[in-house]
Amino acid sequence: MKVGFYQFRPFFGKPEQNCKKILSALKDVEADLIVLPELALSGYYFKDKTESLKYAEDLENSTIIDSIISFAEYKNMHIVLGFAEKQGEQCFNSSALIGPNGIEHVYRKVHLFNEEKFCFDPGNKPFVVNDINGVKIGMMICFDWVFPEVTRILALQGAQIICQPSNLVLTFCQQTMLARCIENKVFAITANRYGVDKRPQGSLKFTGKSQIVAPGGKLLHRAVSQRDALFVTEIDPDDANNKMITQHNDILADRRPEFYTLLNNK
Ligand code: ACM
Repeated sequence: MKVGFYQFRPFFGKPEQNCKKILSALKDVEADLIVLPELALSGYYFKDKTESLKYAEDLENSTIIDSIISFAEYKNMHIVLGFAEKQGEQCFNSSALIGPNGIEHVYRKVHLFNEEKFCFDPGNKPFVVNDINGVKIGMMICFDWVFPEVTRILALQGAQIICQPSNLVLTFCQQTMLARCIENKVFAITANRYGVDKRPQGSLKFTGKSQIVAPGGKLLHRAVSQRDALFVTEIDPDDANNKMITQHNDILADRRPEFYTLLNNK
């Protein structure tokens, strides 16, 4: 299976322009699955929810999302796209799994980062795993990395590849995802943006360094920090099926949930 990411610098508030940039970058790409950054169409640093809604896509009525679906169909490719999702007066920081037959799943970011709390509604759907041509895909978004429960719950549902659209401003995630891939023995594709969103309320700089990590924590590739980066590599998703970390330790079967009950109540 050929998987990859496209790291770029979205222009704030220019969804059409950002969509054009994405489709032109992916025009000649041969891949089964490409992961794009978080909020790849709108840019990141909204000042409030009125502004995030203004640049959000309504899945029932979005020519931009429709053009990405047509592209996925034409390329016979799956795309994981981070975008601002409008549903009535609600706005979610979402990630769509788009395939040749349309949208297969939308994940809404559960753990909102910092001022995102003023711009988005928290995700309201469970973590699930989707099957694409026999491969199990799980989605999380950026700051979800701080919560090891997310990767674990996806791994427990059989996820082989974790797709993580990101707009990282802290510097810890890329290293932490190595640990997530050791403790869950999954692949992880982190597609981050770079550049700066300079807004009246301040500036945010994003860290780039998108990466693909293999089960066991092997870094297959990490992009540079502040440049466009399109990367595709061949992986065998079944490498994520072996959960043995020693001859006598299965990282999922050896769990002792009876000792973790506090996690459900705190
Ligand atoms: C983040 O969750 N975008 C830092």
